[in-house]
Amino acid sequence: MWPNLNVILRFILVASFYCAPTSSSATENSVNRIKENIPSPPTWSRLGRAPPNHLVTLRIALRQSLSNSLLLEQILYNVSNPGSPLYGRHLSKEEAESILKPQEDAITAVDNWLSSSGIRESSIKPGPSRAWLMVTIPIDTAEILLNTTYYTWCHSSSNDTIVRTTTYSLPVEVFHHVDFVQPTTIFARWNGLGSATHLPIAVREFAQTGSSSITSGSGTVTDTGCNATLTLSCIRQLYNITDYTTLGKSGSKIGVTGYLDYYANRADLLLFLQDQRPEALDATYQFISVNGGKDSQNVSQAGGEADLDIQISMGLTYPMPNIFYSTAGSPPSIPSLHTPTDANEPYAEWLDYMLSQSELPATITTSYSDDEDTVPIAYAKHICAGFALLGARGASLIFSSGDGGVGDGDDNPTTQQCKANDGRNASRFIPTFPPSCPYVTAVGGTTQIPEVASYFSGGGFSNYFDRPSYQESSVSSYVDRLQPILYQGLYNPHGRGVPDVSAQSTNFRAFYQGQAARGMGTSVAAPIFASIVALLNDGRLARGLPPLGFLNPVLYTKGLPGLTDITSGNNPGCGTQGFNATYGWDPVTGLGTPNFGKLKQIFSP
Ligand SMILES: *[C@@H]1O[C@H](CO)[C@@H](O)[C@H](O)[C@H]1NC(C)=O
Ligand SMILES: *[C@@H]1O[C@H](CO)[C@@H](O)[C@H](O)[C@H]1NC(C)=O
Ligand SMILES: *[C@@H]1O[C@H](CO)[C@@H](O)[C@H](O)[C@H]1NC(C)=O
Ligand SMILES: *[C@@H]1O[C@H](CO)[C@@H](O)[C@H](O)[C@H]1NC(C)=O
Ligand SMILES: *[C@@H]1O[C@H](CO)[C@@H](O)[C@H](O)[C@H]1NC(C)=O
Ligand SMILES: *[C@@H]1O[C@H](CO)[C@@H](O)[C@H](O)[C@H]1NC(C)=O
Ligand SMILES: *[C@@H]1O[C@H](CO)[C@@H](O)[C@H](O)[C@H]1NC(C)=O
Ligand SMILES: *[C@@H]1O[C@H](CO)[C@@H](O)[C@H](O)[C@H]1NC(C)=O
Repeated sequence: MWPNLNVILRFILVASFYCAPTSSSATENSVNRIKENIPSPPTWSRLGRAPPNHLVTLRIALRQSLSNSLLLEQILYNVSNPGSPLYGRHLSKEEAESILKPQEDAITAVDNWLSSSGIRESSIKPGPSRAWLMVTIPIDTAEILLNTTYYTWCHSSSNDTIVRTTTYSLPVEVFHHVDFVQPTTIFARWNGLGSATHLPIAVREFAQTGSSSITSGSGTVTDTGCNATLTLSCIRQLYNITDYTTLGKSGSKIGVTGYLDYYANRADLLLFLQDQRPEALDATYQFISVNGGKDSQNVSQAGGEADLDIQISMGLTYPMPNIFYSTAGSPPSIPSLHTPTDANEPYAEWLDYMLSQSELPATITTSYSDDEDTVPIAYAKHICAGFALLGARGASLIFSSGDGGVGDGDDNPTTQQCKANDGRNASRFIPTFPPSCPYVTAVGGTTQIPEVASYFSGGGFSNYFDRPSYQESSVSSYVDRLQPILYQGLYNPHGRGVPDVSAQSTNFRAFYQGQAARGMGTSVAAPIFASIVALLNDGRLARGLPPLGFLNPVLYTKGLPGLTDITSGNNPGCGTQGFNATYGWDPVTGLGTPNFGKLKQIFSP
């Protein structure tokens, strides 16, 4: 799977040759209309023109009518709100697809545009329900189609290169039928939100069992060792999961997403289960490749992120079926090679795959995200609608909230991105996407027992998505209590608040590349919370009840007594102390951490 040395050397030569910025004049357009025009992104430098024969897969999003988007939201809330007569009446694949069907005239206009531009039908692939089209063409063809110029860009801290433009145009005939064409102006960097660092081999850190114990905020009693080293046993004690047994036969499944060539390693999983769940040694997960995602089992290619995620979910949900989705597509791309490696954010590929499946796992966890401002707003809204569709079909989507506090995790003031990406250089906190999408559940991080917020817990307010109705009272009561001058202009007081809930996020004892390791990040928190949801779904499905589906409307209401409020700690970033955890919802720990026993009494009595 590794390119040979020649290719690597060639790439380095090309990259270092290119890494001296060149200039060129911007194009002005009179016949077409400019669809998007963004300032140069601050952390990327523009290199030369993109190779003309580099293949690119353009995603052309057909415009949704506003009434469709409102309908989708209404359906999602109706099936997810326990007060509604439609609660739990999740949609089938076909019903979901029919909601986002674009208008016929949009399909016709775009078809005409592509065929009159000489794009062969074999280069065009429809996405699910034709909400978008995928067109694979060389850069020089794309430049004519969009009347633009593509460049190779180099990322300042990683040297990753991508092929992008900062502006593009569409003919007036299709302008209003298309929401966006990407990749053009998307400069996002999809990141894993956890790290696994090796522990010294000689050290065997176990939670001490025996006489000494700590009483947590929720009243559960936990071994003292759990304050320094978090194990499955600690999580089960702390979150009151100890007296539940799943038979694994209810139909409840949990999906774990993997990206960026982070591979879940089965040998690491076995070491972990031997260490912490010896009765589960026969556990295996189903592997699903999305868009050509690989399954390397070479232990030195095990990914810390993937190992953490799958070990937590398998360990907590055994013997429930687990699925690991390996989705291909990530920078660095090699723009001189003729392969469309440089496409869009890989979660778009994953979403297409999931929407095309007639069966979905009831619970899905993702520990990767982008800085919201690096994702064009039209793109983010399209993707967010896709998540709403999965929710309407009964899947609970759970995301880590990010590891940078209110910022991007970069403490270096010259490279950190705490700025609005609008050319005005105004300081701005950086929320993460997809957690900022109001149709997913975002999980922040806590540490220690009794629990306090982790300093890195990603939290804040979306600049793209308005505060959803289910957050109205809890989030506005937090915002109203903030000093009005403090952080003025740094956050959007009307935005969707992140996170929704939280869970432990430090000192998790995992196994990585054959050795014991310490897992950190909201990457630990999301699979913990998701496993608890999967167990709740197990109890519900076993009783013939529908799965919980989109969780937030119930978490902010009926579910509250099953969450433990976290009231201390804060999440610094962007040169500030960030927000404070406090009574009620806060943009550090959300509503709090789960108490499985109590949640089960509420949702699956
Ligand atoms: C593309 O842009 C150029 C200006 O850069 C303009 O002269 C030309 O008419 C445009 N082409 C189309 C088809 O609109
Ligand atoms: C949602 O529920 C409300 C109240 O029950 C109902 O009036 C409305 O028609 C429903 N909308 C959809 C799209 O099902
Ligand atoms: C990026 O390239 C520069 C200059 O070639 C080099 O000094 C730096 O170490 C590289 N950074 C990474 C992360 O490879
Ligand atoms: C847990 O560890 C933290 C420091 O890591 C310490 O401040 C706290 O007192 C410990 N709690 C207990 C109950 O031992
Ligand atoms: C395993 O991966 C490492 C690191 O990528 C590589 O050096 C090694 O050759 C691989 N081993 C096998 C058997 O493929
Ligand atoms: C924003 O910052 C960049 C780089 O620091 C600078 O080139 C540009 O002029 C600034 N723009 C404004 C409007 O201050
Ligand atoms: C957080 O709490 C500290 C100490 O009470 C206070 O000084 C600060 O203003 C608070 N910050 C916010 C954002 O509320
Ligand atoms: C744990 O869950 C059980 C229900 O399974 C509940 O009765 C008990 O109160 C919970 N314990 C704590 C400390 O919340």
